Amino acid sequence: MSANNDSIQKTLLVAILLCLVCSVIVAGAAVSLKPLQQANKVADRKQNILAAAGILQPGVDIDEQFKQVTTRIVNLEAGRYATEAELAEIKEAGLDPKNYDQSKASKMPELSEKLQDDPASIKRQADYAPVYILENSAGEIEKIIMPVHGYGLWSTLYGFLALKGDMETIAGLGFYQHAETPGLGGEVDNPKWKSLWVGKKLHDEDGDVAISVVKGGAEPGNPNQVDGLSGATLTSRGVDSLVKFWVGESGFGKFLTKLKEQGA
Ligand SMILES: Cc1cc2nc3c(=O)[nH]c(=O)nc-3n(C[C@H](O)[C@H](O)[C@H](O)COP(=O)(O)O)c2cc1C
Repeated sequence: MSANNDSIQKTLLVAILLCLVCSVIVAGAAVSLKPLQQANKVADRKQNILAAAGILQPGVDIDEQFKQVTTRIVNLEAGRYATEAELAEIKEAGLDPKNYDQSKASKMPELSEKLQDDPASIKRQADYAPVYILENSAGEIEKIIMPVHGYGLWSTLYGFLALKGDMETIAGLGFYQHAETPGLGGEVDNPKWKSLWVGKKLHDEDGDVAISVVKGGAEPGNPNQVDGLSGATLTSRGVDSLVKFWVGESGFGKFLTKLKEQGA
């Protein structure tokens, strides 16, 4: 009997059955946990948006906090909110406008363009981008939060840039995904460095985009300059380029100008 159990056939049968049972368990766990993972991803995004705007309240339910935020889709080229017809176009292409995925859109030829001039090294740009808006009780924009991304040294940095209602003053900048070196380029996450952005202005007196990350340190009192990260010049340069790109004409520039003209 024991000799029978040690046969090659039985050993193989047990191994195959074990593999089958394990794969069913793993596949079942992956499928059943997917909605939870998706929900966590959405909650994480909301948390990062609130953090960039400097309004994240630790310990308070994220969904509850996010109720004060309105999400809109912007047509970047036209510099205005997407029309109903454009939202329908997004839906027709297979994306949910209510949960618009800019990253997915940037890979779809019908919803994106290959960039000729690509200072942020993002290769393709989606035609539409979401913006997150905080209004005061009078219905005026208090803060606007925009997704930004661009290449650093080792990786593409993904984050949010928040502006005050004047569409000019930075309310915050934060990155939620990158693979820069901890202690070097990874210092983009250092709260001390992030705080240097708050209050800085996007444009100079001539109205040109002037916000800059400066190697060796910003001139004291310069409203457009932020200190570069020491030992991480290439990441700093990447952040400089991506911020300039997203607030410029090819990014949210036209939209921000329009809002400014309308007095937000
Ligand atoms: C292991 C290693 C990791 C590095 N990581 C980064 C980084 O994340 N970001 C960055 O800008 N430079 C990084 N550097 C440094 C760059 O190679 C380069 O020396 C630096 O950007 C120049 O900055 P500095 O002029 O401020 O010294 C790294 C270097 C090494 C050896």
